[in-house]
Amino acid sequence: MDISPRHFLQFKDFSREEFDHLFQRALWIKSEFKAYRKYWPLIDRTLVMIFEKASTRTRLSFEAGMQQLGGLAIYLNSDDSQIKRGEPIEDTAQVISRMSDAVMIRTFGHDRIERFAACSRVPVINGLTNEHHPCQILADVFTFIEHRGPIQGKTVAWIGDSNNVCNTWLQAAEILDFKLHVSTPPGYEVAPERAGLRGTAHLEQFADPMDAAHLADLVTTDVWTSMGFEAENDRRRRDFAAWQVNPEMMRVAHPEALFMHCLPVHRGEEVAAEVIDGPQSVVWDEAENRMHTQKALLEFLLLGRVDFAAAPSPSASTPSRELP
Ligand code: CP
Ligand code: NVA
Repeated sequence: MDISPRHFLQFKDFSREEFDHLFQRALWIKSEFKAYRKYWPLIDRTLVMIFEKASTRTRLSFEAGMQQLGGLAIYLNSDDSQIKRGEPIEDTAQVISRMSDAVMIRTFGHDRIERFAACSRVPVINGLTNEHHPCQILADVFTFIEHRGPIQGKTVAWIGDSNNVCNTWLQAAEILDFKLHVSTPPGYEVAPERAGLRGTAHLEQFADPMDAAHLADLVTTDVWTSMGFEAENDRRRRDFAAWQVNPEMMRVAHPEALFMHCLPVHRGEEVAAEVIDGPQSVVWDEAENRMHTQKALLEFLLLGRVDFAAAPSPSASTPSRELP
């Protein structure tokens, strides 16, 4: 009998049907949170979070989310632990997974998280590697669905670097059946093998970013230089100068197109301030949804499929977390 745990290392680790379940659970979990109703299915459960790169959203959303589910989240970083002093990742995995119920890791090469997961007795979640950022796209697709309904059959335009976030959008397009238009500067094109794609049926690459954005339902981008690639910063600034999402680009997209960015953003580089701070941008919902979707992910990995509890309807006097 296979008793190895499920992990979420790449988007393609889950099926479309499992994502549908996660999105439904995230919706319910979010509504409970908004109404200040307690949902503590993870009492006595511990999530260990290991960060080898900086983070604001990923740390906060996992830490707050785990506590809101009744559990505990413990933060470790490579500087303050034995990881940087050379303890093998396999040994670290053996130890941490004996003291916890799930592990989230943000690291450099994807091989590091795979090596950790191979020795872990508990589920491992990818909180970003050089190659993938599955939790981000879980939140992004959920945010799209909230605003515009099903993503199947839609077109998402990715403008800029074919990085970890782009790779994960590509896997999501295959699994959830939508189209990804990608425009990168020459030399930065998508590498289907590095992205872990099964084929290229859902990918179309464009030399001109305006063509990629044409009639797209969602336009999205990310920093020109990702963490770990800082030495290339000057060259990338020159190479990516024409790959900015600006109002002209949003005008050729679908009239109801949304704009997303995983954040943090460099206004005036990959996106103009008028776009990210404008009416089509849903970046704050996107950031908030990291927490709700990851709570659904933790519930699924630790408890399996939870049946839908009928949420009590909020009474008129129930306060809400929604602000105007
Ligand atoms: N989007 C994202 O992962 O943000 P952080 O780097 O702040 O975690
Ligand atoms: N591509 C970016 C995403 C940050 C959340 C990076 O890896 O730095």
